Amino acid sequence: MKSNKVKSNLSKAILAVIVGLGLPSIAEAASNKVSFKADIQPIFDEYCVSCHEPDGIGYEASGFDLSTYEGVMKGTRFGAMIVPGNPLSSNLMAVLEGRTDASIRMPHSDRREMTKLDRRILRKWIIGGATKADYEEKGAVGVIEDLCLDCHVPDGMGYEASGLDLRTYESLMKGTRHGSIIVPGDPFMSNMMVLIEGRAAGGLKMPHNDQEAPTAKDRNTLRRWINKGALNN
Ligand code: HEC
Ligand code: HEC
Repeated sequence: MKSNKVKSNLSKAILAVIVGLGLPSIAEAASNKVSFKADIQPIFDEYCVSCHEPDGIGYEASGFDLSTYEGVMKGTRFGAMIVPGNPLSSNLMAVLEGRTDASIRMPHSDRREMTKLDRRILRKWIIGGATKADYEEKGAVGVIEDLCLDCHVPDGMGYEASGLDLRTYESLMKGTRHGSIIVPGDPFMSNMMVLIEGRAAGGLKMPHNDQEAPTAKDRNTLRRWINKGALNN
């Protein structure tokens, strides 16, 4: 446990340096395969599909359907938005990175901006050829291990402050000193998702405030797992 912790703190320190330089993080380098279904579609689902699916206002205005792989690759009425292998020439990245006229910056209007991490994953997917390839998904437990274990173990600052121990399924379901943080079948009402999605009244966020926000894919994995009953699997 101890040496593990030291190791993870060390890789965090290295990570901080690399992120500071704007290079891909170690975590990304370690899992260099991007899956359309598991990584990319959840990003579009979260930020774009409400407008960019048949009948949506973005789709009606541009012809761009972001609800399927085929629609994503087809692009708008004026042509493809993705140049496989070349994010810089891909108009999709241009509208996300603010390299176009402000009026077509996406997500459109007052919608929440895409996190840097999600943009990086999209860029990586395009660099890799923007394929439809699928790889095995990391489950809810893997997501929580990656995002939360640094602080929510005995002696960790999250555990000390809240009593929440995230080492096992049982301790996750037990919750904090104030009670359970998961409502099986109801991600919206689950305090864990309230905190991860930044919906908490006091502005508290998990992973704790100063950490990089989790990816759309990770949020999606957790939401789906709670939706299916938050079972021990
Ligand atoms: C709130 C609705 C809304 C959301 C959310 C939204 N869009 Fe759009 N999108 C539009 C509308 C409307 C247009 C038509 C352009 C215009 O009139 O501003 C458009 C146009 C576009 C275009 C074509 C731009 C051009 O060349 O004219 C692209 C590319 C695009 N959206 C990508 C995205 C992506 C990627 C996302 C998610 C990250 C997204 N949009 C989210 C409403 C939306
Ligand atoms: C960098 C350390 C850190 C990480 C990583 C972290 N937490 Fe926390 N967590 C804290 C601290 C500190 C508190 C106490 C918050 C406070 O009261 O200011 C806390 C409190 C909580 C609480 C109780 C909040 C409340 O309203 O009392 C929950 C639930 C929680 N964390 C869940 C998570 C989950 C789920 C993850 C992973 C997605 C996570 N945390 C990752 C540090 C962390």
